[in-house]
Amino acid sequence: MSRWSHKGVAPHGGVLVNRLVQADPREYAHLPALELCERGYADLELIATGVYSPLEGFLGEADYRGVVEHMRLANGLPWSLPITLSVPAGEARQYRGTVRLTRGGETVGLLEVVEQYRPDRREEALEVYRTADPAHPGVAALLAQGEVNLAGRVSLLRLPRGEFPEHHYTPLETRRIFHERGWGTVVAFQTRNPIHRAHEYLHKVALEHVDGLFLNPLVGATKPDDVPARVRMAAYGVLLERYYPKDRVLLGVYPAAMRYAGPREAVLHAISRKNYGCTHFIVGRDHAGVGSYYGPYDAQEIFGAFRPEEIGIQILKFEHTFYCRTCGSIVSPRTCPHDAAHHLVLSGTRVRELLRSGAPLPPEFTRPEVAEVLRTAYQEAQPA
Ligand code: ADX
Repeated sequence: MSRWSHKGVAPHGGVLVNRLVQADPREYAHLPALELCERGYADLELIATGVYSPLEGFLGEADYRGVVEHMRLANGLPWSLPITLSVPAGEARQYRGTVRLTRGGETVGLLEVVEQYRPDRREEALEVYRTADPAHPGVAALLAQGEVNLAGRVSLLRLPRGEFPEHHYTPLETRRIFHERGWGTVVAFQTRNPIHRAHEYLHKVALEHVDGLFLNPLVGATKPDDVPARVRMAAYGVLLERYYPKDRVLLGVYPAAMRYAGPREAVLHAISRKNYGCTHFIVGRDHAGVGSYYGPYDAQEIFGAFRPEEIGIQILKFEHTFYCRTCGSIVSPRTCPHDAAHHLVLSGTRVRELLRSGAPLPPEFTRPEVAEVLRTAYQEAQPA
């Protein structure tokens, strides 16, 4: 097991974690097995490949409390979302010492259980999600978890390449690619929605300032009415082909599950992208938000709780951007003098309505090539 440090952007906490071990899973057949859910498997990968550096495993109680109450690990390092693994209370006793982590019954990793504790899930919801409303998808997932958290270092036995193997990179790989391409500065973009022109505007404004763009769509578990990752990736394919400079963009997936934790999640998103080797991170309007649980700029303001050098990646903040018919371009309140009557603003709900009805998305909102990918996907998904 090696730890690797890079001369470029310092990983969070100083070293890039690598918990990948080459071993035959059959060696561990005698150990108790714990089946991971989609999110747990993603977290295992993210820890083991260093995306969640400096975490080497699922959080113990001291770190957990620090994160929930103060957004810091026990050693004081900023960390905003508890990365935990829970089991039902009735099953906790069987998980002592080394446990085999499985996915679909196959052994994918190991967990050295050093601690078990009972989190206060309501308190966690209120602190982390700012609500205990079970209608919030992140809160619902939290409340559905087991009562006992298992903590300890993990190992990953084989690198998952997921649904998009040609776009699946570890931080070691992205750092090498950025270096080979000579990108001194790289802006990362988190997204879980189909790309639209406001996104493209953010990318291109950023690209005026930095060497490269790391498009890093989240492809882990999302709520059922979000557009599937397969469709979003297809949309990226057609868009990059026609509208982006190929040598200045890297499309790579972010395997994490979406928590919808708004501001708290924005901080984790930024730290993860620093670990991939990026220097800048875009945070726009209502980053990682859902419904109206968060103010439109809460996810920008939260970074004020930290000294910039503690976060270690520059946050590029953008106001709400949209198309203005009179300006004839994508604008924001910072650049456009016209009132709302001139603006084309489509909510996610409205976009889904249009797609369901088969109506075209306006080209001012979405490039026609992307609209076509979405329209086809929606029609295929319609019950006959
Ligand atoms: S998110 O859940 O991943 O944040 P989404 O894919 O919609 O959802 O957003 C990706 C990023 O683009 C976030 O930083 C978000 O704040 C930003 N963003 C999305 N739409 C806009 C917009 N119209 N104006 C400004 N920023 C936006």
